[in-house]
Amino acid sequence: HEFDDDDRSAEIEEDPPFNVKEEDAYLTVPQLVWKYGYEIEIHEVQTEDGYLLDLYRISGRRAASGQPALRPYRNAPIFLMHSLLSSCADWVLMGPGRGLGYLLADAGFDVWMGNARGTRYSRKHIHLDPDRSGEFWNFSWHEIGLYDVRALIDHVLNVTGAARLHYGGFSQGTMVLFVLLSERPEYNTKLIDMQAISPSVYMYRLEGQIVRTFVQLADPLVAALDTIGRREILPNLRFIAPLVKIVCADSNVTACRELLYDVAGKNPPQVDDRMVRIFLGHFPAGASLRQLHHFSQIIRTARFAKYSPLRFAENGVPSFSPAPLYNLTRATIPVVVYYGLNDHVVNFRDALQLADEVPNLAAVHQIADRRFTHSDFILAKNSARLLNSILLQELNQYDGATGSASVNVTHWRV
Ligand SMILES: *[C@@H]1O[C@H](CO)[C@@H](O)[C@H](O)[C@H]1NC(C)=O
Ligand SMILES: *[C@@H]1O[C@H](CO)[C@@H](O)[C@H](O)[C@H]1NC(C)=O
Ligand SMILES: *[C@@H]1O[C@H](CO)[C@@H](O)[C@H](O)[C@H]1NC(C)=O
Ligand SMILES: *[C@@H]1O[C@H](CO)[C@@H](O)[C@H](O)[C@H]1NC(C)=O
Ligand SMILES: *[C@@H]1O[C@H](CO)[C@@H](O)[C@H](O)[C@H]1NC(C)=O
Repeated sequence: HEFDDDDRSAEIEEDPPFNVKEEDAYLTVPQLVWKYGYEIEIHEVQTEDGYLLDLYRISGRRAASGQPALRPYRNAPIFLMHSLLSSCADWVLMGPGRGLGYLLADAGFDVWMGNARGTRYSRKHIHLDPDRSGEFWNFSWHEIGLYDVRALIDHVLNVTGAARLHYGGFSQGTMVLFVLLSERPEYNTKLIDMQAISPSVYMYRLEGQIVRTFVQLADPLVAALDTIGRREILPNLRFIAPLVKIVCADSNVTACRELLYDVAGKNPPQVDDRMVRIFLGHFPAGASLRQLHHFSQIIRTARFAKYSPLRFAENGVPSFSPAPLYNLTRATIPVVVYYGLNDHVVNFRDALQLADEVPNLAAVHQIADRRFTHSDFILAKNSARLLNSILLQELNQYDGATGSASVNVTHWRV
């Protein structure tokens, strides 16, 4: 595929959020998918508590992809759920031949990609206004699992008529399914398997210094932001420039790369500066203050537990008390875990602890590159070979479709 030159991207957006030449940084996910020659359907799903979520379906490949048009022919659809502060861009940023969303479509899957409440594609509610209402932002990943993932799975099954689906999640996208299965174990019957990419259930061995610092300061920070009514965190809006976009404002991505290395882990050979610039057009995509606070609680307590609201001592010092644990033994579907040895967010020991505790562990894959980081799962030059091709092989075992497609993985050697 061709990448567009500068003068074309100038037409696309007159007021770019930051100075990046790549058109792909500015396009929405449906625009990207269409641009690269795939069918895209936009579904809006309403949750039980009134949130309106965008759910995107890659329902095939058009001839415009440069390859023959293709309809899904697998036995079951696959549903993908993204990571914290991201969106379903996780699955397509790398482009055809590399991004998991495209590789799955090429392999004959009917691909569905969810977007959690509060992200740029799901900043909608039947009566709450995200710009005015604090109540809109009164959620954590608990509600994303319990309401969003549930509604999205039901919608996919309803539209496709399938009885069950494959589930693929990255980071937060895995923990939200464990929340759902813990609270509503009957959902095990709607799932075939779970592909858990860097699952963020245990995170207490987290290594990033910047994130660690925020985690230590979380309670007073949350109390202060809550007081001033700031309950939305790092939205993807053109007129608000979040920290990361100021840091990475010009096309010299040095500072930005250092930030990425601290937060996600350092693996320079896998970093493609062009990819990082595109990524920053899609990340951060928004989250709630409570969602981050909930993360800080499970990191500090080393417990995969429900959210515990802040309490204030007489001297005004905030604290929280232990909340009930989620019950991992209720996730009875086969779980396949993928982890990286140099993942600063989900330390490999945290991933292995989860693998140890799920009742139906099907396989564990350590990514072959020993320096593989958290962001490498979606941005590494070789993520197609190191992760996605293995994931496709795993899915084959659970799908049972005859005549499995040859998957066209573009190998980017480093
Ligand atoms: C936020 O949600 C919780 C339940 O999750 C509820 O108990 C609380 O009252 C809500 N707070 C606000 C301000 O809406
Ligand atoms: C399934 O779809 C039908 C028709 O579109 C709708 O009436 C029904 O409420 C849906 N069921 C669920 C569980 O979403
Ligand atoms: C990029 O920025 C770094 C410091 O932020 C500086 O040392 C380096 O010289 C810059 N590179 C270019 C090509 O401007
Ligand atoms: C977890 O769920 C299992 C299966 O439903 C149940 O037997 C067990 O008692 C639960 N554990 C806790 C601590 O609630
Ligand atoms: C794989 O992709 C390349 C480049 O897009 C194309 O030339 C080739 O024909 C494809 N191979 C198959 C088997 O589809």
